[in-house]
Amino acid sequence: MKKVLKQFLIILIGVFIFSSGIVFSEPDNKKLSIIPTPSQVNFHKGYFLLNPQTKIIYSGNNSESKFTVEYIAKIIRGSTEFKLPVKDVVKMPSKNYIFFNYIHDENLGKEGYKLDVDKDKISVGANSSAGFFYAVQTILQLLPSEIYGRKKVKHVQWKIPCISIVDKPRFQWRGMHLDVSRHFFPAEFIKTYIDMLALHKMNVFHWHLTDDQGWRVEIKKYPKLISIGAWRVDREDRLWNDREPQHEGEKATYGGFYTQDEIKEIVKYAAERQITIVPEIELPAHSGAVLAAYPEYSCTGGPFTVPPGSVWPITTLYCAGNDSTFEFIESILDEVINLFPGTFIHIGGDEADKTEWSKCQKCQARIKAERLKGENELQSYFIKRIEKFIVSKNRRIIGWDEILEGGIAPEATVMSWRGMDGGIAAARMNHDVVMTPGSHCYFDYYQGKPDFEPLAIGGYTPLKKVYEFEPIPDSLTFEQSKHILGAQANVWTEFIATPEHFQYMTLPRMAAMAEVLWSPKQMRDWNEFIPRIEVQIERYNKLNYNHAKSAYLISISASLDSVKKEFGFELSNEMQSKEMRYTLDGKEPTIHSTKYVKPFNVNKSTVVKAVAFHKGKAIGVVSEQKVYLHKALFKPVTLKYPYYKYNGGGELGLTNGIRGTKSYNDGNWQGFEQNDLEAIIDLGYVKQINSISTGFLQNTNSWIFFPSLVEYKISEDGVSYSAITHFDQPVATGHREVEIKEFSFELKDAKARFIKVIAKNIGQCPDWHIGKGGKVWLFIDEIVVE
Ligand code: ACM
Ligand code: ZN
Repeated sequence: MKKVLKQFLIILIGVFIFSSGIVFSEPDNKKLSIIPTPSQVNFHKGYFLLNPQTKIIYSGNNSESKFTVEYIAKIIRGSTEFKLPVKDVVKMPSKNYIFFNYIHDENLGKEGYKLDVDKDKISVGANSSAGFFYAVQTILQLLPSEIYGRKKVKHVQWKIPCISIVDKPRFQWRGMHLDVSRHFFPAEFIKTYIDMLALHKMNVFHWHLTDDQGWRVEIKKYPKLISIGAWRVDREDRLWNDREPQHEGEKATYGGFYTQDEIKEIVKYAAERQITIVPEIELPAHSGAVLAAYPEYSCTGGPFTVPPGSVWPITTLYCAGNDSTFEFIESILDEVINLFPGTFIHIGGDEADKTEWSKCQKCQARIKAERLKGENELQSYFIKRIEKFIVSKNRRIIGWDEILEGGIAPEATVMSWRGMDGGIAAARMNHDVVMTPGSHCYFDYYQGKPDFEPLAIGGYTPLKKVYEFEPIPDSLTFEQSKHILGAQANVWTEFIATPEHFQYMTLPRMAAMAEVLWSPKQMRDWNEFIPRIEVQIERYNKLNYNHAKSAYLISISASLDSVKKEFGFELSNEMQSKEMRYTLDGKEPTIHSTKYVKPFNVNKSTVVKAVAFHKGKAIGVVSEQKVYLHKALFKPVTLKYPYYKYNGGGELGLTNGIRGTKSYNDGNWQGFEQNDLEAIIDLGYVKQINSISTGFLQNTNSWIFFPSLVEYKISEDGVSYSAITHFDQPVATGHREVEIKEFSFELKDAKARFIKVIAKNIGQCPDWHIGKGGKVWLFIDEIVVE
């Protein structure tokens, strides 16, 4: 082409792009952002363009397939305002259509689908409407993320890359759980949660409807379950572990429940989205709310009130010696079974402290009559009796792994939560299993460093750890592993009171779990997941789903070169961000701050602050790491009492210049369990001393308290010490925010070789603390001498 003509054309195209305002990027077929990633993908050239004339056609006119095609039409309408006609197939148009066609293809199984996109049409083939529904999720994810917007989006071309996909799930149980007892979540949010599951091709919603702190389902035969059992006193201003029970005469005003009509609507809503609801009715423990309403079914007869917070140990159980208890539970289950059409009813079974059973005459009589060996077998008797009832209604029970103790009910499925071992044992006994080990599947655990996260129950399960979860243990044979139906994430809500916070805890971790459960094991690749999760986060934004940015949080790893007297710093985050920026002057990093390219050194006391950027914006919170180049750097420390578990950098941890963060397990804190700290630093020779400073951490939730007393002494010979100052620190009288406190003292004309620091551990948890009488930790990061 002639150069002038070429330039003219470029200008012409430029003018056209400018005037139309349309983004003309070709879809990059090789960079799909489908989550969970499909089993098989073949890329072709070109794209299908969705426009107002595109038709949606389907075969096999039934309500499920009709729902699914109308569902995609509705989502498309939201962001495009295209009113795509939806038609049962009569006559095929020649082009520009999406066709959903029932086929018979054994390889696809019950939930699989085939999707072929060419320039003229999109064809979906599946054995079932579930396959159609999952194909719809994939089609939406092949479109720009703007498709999820609820209002018309301009200037987007709705291109779908030409592609062939054959896809089906790895596991049949792809579950997400929600505890609505510890905090109640309104029916409208339950539907949003179901939408969240649908987006991720999850197919089981485990609805934890009952627990000590609230009964949430209307049972017509027993109205007190909701008039009493659904309400507790409002102690939301106090931490979960720190709430007084209901006082005499106090009104219970906090809670809620679902009417049977609401539940029916939610069950239908879920079924339309190919999601089965597994209701959980806890027994024999976690029944405090039921027994507050109907104390006659307990061992002691009560009275009880619905606890507004933590209960531990869980001793209030249904009485297993009383036949009327079983009649009561069976009548409840009758109504529950009528409401929930799925195969499984979850009967709990976890965490029963059987003290009351051991004291109850009726329970003991039952043990004798049934020739049981103690209370564990009584629990087994309880579950077996309930299983018999549920099986008589053509349903199956599933329970937490405690149901293995004392002998598992013959047809029970086990939900393995205390690690994988319960699941392994059950599979070896030919029982079906759903894996939910706390280590990888508890989304109430922290997903980032605790000091940057909303208060959580504990633990640490970041996004990458979820992604690395493998539901099938190596120790099972191929045959045994067929009993692993799948896995699920559990979201307990002791520390989660609002839908926004709930979404924060579940997203984006649900995306990682979805890929574990849907995609072939060999296709899981964290590096390749990262760019896709970034697009998934854009989708969450379009859908107004709150989500965590914790995986962007930067870890600042500091080390000291004691010869060069330099600190080395290395920055990293789970998302392997290309753009991390940092400062060394204490200021917050901005887009103009230094970009991190490789590890760097600093030869003075400093604070490094760092944050990741994505598309030009800081994302998540700023991390910081302080280091001090001081006189006692790398000087030997003698401890009178040893540190335990938390070594804070080892023998020279208190003089390595590296300060701790608010995360007690960041590696920079030295921990003393119940012991005092008594440390002597030897500076090598007598020096001028200008100041001494120590840093202590308090995290009352983790049983870490400030010392009650901090004392500094100095000596020239290491024999006779003179006291120079002490600090009294009052003991916390209730839970406090996590805090670091410096105990600093300036000296005048002081000379010393030896410095002694004494810090008194308060010893035992105070009376107000859940760990009352238990061993308290003392955490110190550094002794800074200037
Ligand atoms: C459980 O977390 N108690 C099943
Ligand atoms: Zn009893």
